[in-house]
Amino acid sequence: MLAKRYTGKKLVDNIFATSKKAKQAIVKFGKENVINATIGSLYDEDEKLAVYDVVESVYRNLPPEDLYAYATNVIGEDDYLEEVIKALLFEDYKEKLKGLYIASVATTGGTGAISNTIKNYMDTGDKVLLPNWMWGTYKNIAIENGGQIETYQLFDKNGDFNFEDFKDKVLELAKTQKNIVIIINEPSHNPTGFRMTYEEWVKVIEFIETIKDNNLIIIRDVAYFEYDNRNEKENRKIRELVIGLPKNILVIYAFSLSKALSIYGMRIGAQIAVSSDEKVIQEFKDANAFSCRTTWSNVPKGGMKLFATIMKNPELKAKFIKEKQTYIALLSERAKIFLTEAKEENLEILPYKSGFFITVPIGETVDKVIEDLESKNIFVIKFDTGIRIGICSVPKKKIKGLAKKIKESIEKFKNQ
Ligand SMILES: Cc1ncc(COP(=O)(O)O)c(C=O)c1O
Repeated sequence: MLAKRYTGKKLVDNIFATSKKAKQAIVKFGKENVINATIGSLYDEDEKLAVYDVVESVYRNLPPEDLYAYATNVIGEDDYLEEVIKALLFEDYKEKLKGLYIASVATTGGTGAISNTIKNYMDTGDKVLLPNWMWGTYKNIAIENGGQIETYQLFDKNGDFNFEDFKDKVLELAKTQKNIVIIINEPSHNPTGFRMTYEEWVKVIEFIETIKDNNLIIIRDVAYFEYDNRNEKENRKIRELVIGLPKNILVIYAFSLSKALSIYGMRIGAQIAVSSDEKVIQEFKDANAFSCRTTWSNVPKGGMKLFATIMKNPELKAKFIKEKQTYIALLSERAKIFLTEAKEENLEILPYKSGFFITVPIGETVDKVIEDLESKNIFVIKFDTGIRIGICSVPKKKIKGLAKKIKESIEKFKNQ
């Protein structure tokens, strides 16, 4: 019955499925006896969804027409579109990024931003370049749009960004396709918490500038950037690396309010496109507005108004930043417990710098290890041949001792 291009599609969403198992275990054995490290949302120490006080109070006080009416434009509210650019590229972006053309489009979360971008820039049959450790939905979006995937090794043997493999894969794709869509998920990479250094970014930018005969569309997935602790000076320096990029390079940031404001279910995000060419940006706006209209039409006005109201009001913004700092501190305390214990236990982990997740590489016995952990009421997410621990949702008291339990499970199957 399905259209030919859609036959064989079946969503295997490992995250939602494992999360369900964890919830069932909680019902059976009680919350205190289960470690549910499957959740990808920020939870507080009482294992409740982290809700910002400022978000709650602003949202509840929005006028009804802001909550129930259609958005003003298909691509989103004007003030929202401006505030997302400022949140990412700083207040002074017009002055500091002079010469660049910048536009934003509101999307249904970061997912909508990535799918709009792949849909509009990947040619049918082409490959999208992804890191080998990745959020699995990227792959599905490529497939949904008639594409395929290629992966670059995210890490080299020192645990740094594997520039050589990245470069080789781009050059390889450049031989066979005109457009190359590339995803770099950074900072607070899912599933590892990896972050690139400024020097690594410089290398990437210097390399892509040498590509003359292809169009490069760099999606920088910044879904978790609000919870990263890279200093502002470095963030500003990285922002400025796009100045002077030739017009065959288009950078599109995928922005997510799910994480930024902890409003996952509201489904708000944005594509923020930056180019040295006005026509490229006009085309971006035209094509993506068309895609918005034909898929979700427009995104909830209330979520956009919520963000714009907080960001435009210095007092509310200060409250938001203050609350956010407490969550960043909480994440770093949780990470510290796990990382310290992992070191004591000699448990290998992938390079973690910040964010919601830590990944333990396991190898071929990964399924056995997961099964063993589940038998002990510890639920984690399988990513390739590793397991992802969502430190975003596990309270400190349950993180204590977790590295040891994981190590024991790994050891159990080591020589099998
Ligand atoms: C790496 C990454 N990018 C993007 C998203 C998109 O999130 P949302 O569509 O809720 O904004 C997620 C969500 O889990 C993610 O992990």
